[in-house]
Amino acid sequence: MKMKAAILWEPKTDWSVEEVELDPPGPGEVLVKLVGSGLCHSDEHLLTGDLALPQETQEELGMQQFPVIGGHEGAGEVLEVGAGVTSLKPGDHVVFGFIPSCGRCPSCSTGHQNLCDYGALMGVGKQIADGTSRHHAQGKDLGLMCLLGTFSHHTVVNEASCIKIENDVPLEKACLLGCGVVTGWGSAVYAADVGPGDIVCVVGIGGIGANAIQGAKLAGAKQIWAIDPIEYKREKAMEFGATHTAASMAEAMEPLGAASWGTMANKVIMTMGVGSGEVLIEALALAAKRGRVVVTNIHPAMEMSANVSLLDLTLMEKQVVGSLFGSGNPRADIPKLLNLYREGQLDLDGLVTKTYTLDGVNDGYDDMRSGKNIRGVMVYS
Ligand SMILES: NC(=O)c1ccc[n+]([C@@H]2O[C@H](COP(=O)([O-])OP(=O)(O)OC[C@H]3O[C@@H](n4cnc5c(N)ncnc54)[C@H](O)[C@@H]3O)[C@@H](O)[C@H]2O)c1
Ligand SMILES: [Zn+2]
Ligand SMILES: [Zn+2]
Repeated sequence: MKMKAAILWEPKTDWSVEEVELDPPGPGEVLVKLVGSGLCHSDEHLLTGDLALPQETQEELGMQQFPVIGGHEGAGEVLEVGAGVTSLKPGDHVVFGFIPSCGRCPSCSTGHQNLCDYGALMGVGKQIADGTSRHHAQGKDLGLMCLLGTFSHHTVVNEASCIKIENDVPLEKACLLGCGVVTGWGSAVYAADVGPGDIVCVVGIGGIGANAIQGAKLAGAKQIWAIDPIEYKREKAMEFGATHTAASMAEAMEPLGAASWGTMANKVIMTMGVGSGEVLIEALALAAKRGRVVVTNIHPAMEMSANVSLLDLTLMEKQVVGSLFGSGNPRADIPKLLNLYREGQLDLDGLVTKTYTLDGVNDGYDDMRSGKNIRGVMVYS
């Protein structure tokens, strides 16, 4: 079939919305009509080149990152299933997990689906089953961001990327569970392990940071410091449960010290648009003895150094941990957080600042760059 999608032909260009030829689903694959896709900062890293590997490295690894259909925070309705698909049928509503889960690898089978071995195929972006493409444009095979490519009206993905949900939640809201909500919420609840009475800093209030605040609040944090240079973001953070705000980590130091009787924050969650090794030392300065810094934001692929006093880590037993998909399990956490939404304990509606059509993808990213959105969402009719 023919459909439209937003393609990035190479870094440092705009998304190009154009006609794409889509093959039918092969064995183990599903054809999905998308309804909504969030505009997460991770796709922006493809565009800026932060996530692009040098051409020689791509060749060494036998991969080709571009051209690629963007988007990894999507939800839609199953139209057709390929041979051997047993868990889905036409008409089912699905949220895509941005990391597939095979259910059998060591990570999946020990409750860490976010680290599924299929994740190794994400950089390649071709179909899990056979490494080929179902998506083609201008005579070229296309890769898919996170094996999904949700900046499109339709897509074909592996069953392993699909999480079936009930039909009651609008798909243009449910799509947020595919990345931002679970990533942010889980960064606080699972990776930071926020507990009752904790003091928490969330650095960067976009789609990820807003949900880290929601997670920290539900986990019982006593103080939640929202740190972002943009005033609108700080105001919105208070609506999601922040108790204090600051325009930068440096500006948070003194008031946080005063408000914590000098102990500082138990947990510092890094959710800036682009991670920076240079500022790790500031994040660690905000952390208490035995405090934990969670690195959720994505750093440029080629950044290999960070500013940190390792002696300080030893003497104060501070920790730095990474977190992918909020250290959550897509198959358990997507339905779980949808239930929290139904019960009024998780705000999805307030996350969506503005909606766009597929043709508005570049406007959506302009708005992200100028800090206008908590989350922009493309809604397809
Ligand atoms: N680890 C994961 O699984 C995972 C998943 C999704 C996204 N991410 C990453 O999380 C990060 C945040 O994504 P997003 O979609 O929320 O981005 P976003 O652009 O919507 O929000 C980022 C916010 O950070 C703020 N910011 C920038 N520099 C700052 C600084 N020095 N101090 C404080 N705040 C600062 C910006 O003003 C903005 O409000 C990105 O790096 C993204 O790639 C990681
Ligand atoms: Zn994302
Ligand atoms: Zn697995």
